[in-house]
Amino acid sequence: YSLHSLHTFALNSQCQHFVEITQLEQLKAQSFSPPFCLLGEGSNTVFLNDYTGTVIKMATKGIKVTERKDDFLISVAAGENWHALVSYLLDRDIPGLENLALIPGTVGASPVQNIGAYGVEIAKFVESVEYFDITTKAMHTLNNEQCEFAYRDSIFKHSLKNKAVITRVYLALPKKWQPVLSYGPLQHLSRVTPTAVFEQVIQTRNSKLPNPYTLPNAGSFFKNPIITNQHLAELLTQFADLPHYEYGQSHHKVAAGWLIDQVGLKGHRVAGIEVHMQQALVLVNHGNSEGSDLITMIKHIQQAVNARYNIMLEHEVRLIDTHSECHIKMEPI
Ligand code: EPU
Repeated sequence: YSLHSLHTFALNSQCQHFVEITQLEQLKAQSFSPPFCLLGEGSNTVFLNDYTGTVIKMATKGIKVTERKDDFLISVAAGENWHALVSYLLDRDIPGLENLALIPGTVGASPVQNIGAYGVEIAKFVESVEYFDITTKAMHTLNNEQCEFAYRDSIFKHSLKNKAVITRVYLALPKKWQPVLSYGPLQHLSRVTPTAVFEQVIQTRNSKLPNPYTLPNAGSFFKNPIITNQHLAELLTQFADLPHYEYGQSHHKVAAGWLIDQVGLKGHRVAGIEVHMQQALVLVNHGNSEGSDLITMIKHIQQAVNARYNIMLEHEVRLIDTHSECHIKMEPI
């Protein structure tokens, strides 16, 4: 079964079996014998090679809105498209998610990596997440705290990895709108309305980030690294304009795109894979590329950044190899 159109990086890989879940009852009947891989719209997953397992795509639909005293509770099935949800809610005068416009992928995938952009993370709005436990075949619900959200991280990447199928996400959107305008282009809006923020975010993303459906890519390829305050202080003595953001008391997050840009890799190519000219954190696939080309590219970037900044970039995108997920980490030289 071809995986080309099932992941936005669009390498020419195949899988042994493919199942699309449109009804929750199908989950009970599914064997989940390894190897298997859960998928939404495939915008944060790359299939490096032919995959010997079963790809299980979550495609359940349904949005329910319940009005409460101070907020709206939105119950959304895992297979709904994220951006369509943001638009649907704005059309009904329910703001809150506008900074997260145009993020590719499904609602079910959104808590896994705690999607975030322009000063907002989904963790801020998640009331709870419902999942199917593949071992016990029972449904469970985690509240916000139990999801263990952090920067591009949650329990679904750790203790519940390959154990839970997210079936529904519950979002609580306050009636009192509190715009988040900290990000550059949002500071200069002439009229601050949810729609104006939504449109500005769309414009900003379109100017830097390639559309995954026209130029295959998987969004930010690496996480913005989190380094100690001391490491940052050392780097700033040499690289005064390194973009950095506070992360807790003892750490800072630094801009991976800036690091890759500064080592001169914008436009660098391995076969058809290129470091995007408008945003060095994004890798695009022009075609005629293989998983091995991507691995060469990842290692090259990690090596170049590490050599200059003593920072090992971690890929944010999930890489699936022949039998299982893999993590590429260049040995520093
Ligand atoms: N920068 C460069 N050169 C580049 C890219 C970036 O100098 O080629 C600099 C920028 O000028 C800026 C800083 O690096 O000072 C940060 O860049 P940007 O604002 O574009 O955001 P980012 O940190 O690269 C993160 C998210 C994006 C999200 C944006 C906006 C991660 C891994 N990425 O990118 O999320 O849209 O912030 O909030 O956290 C994604 O996860 O797929 C994604 C697109």
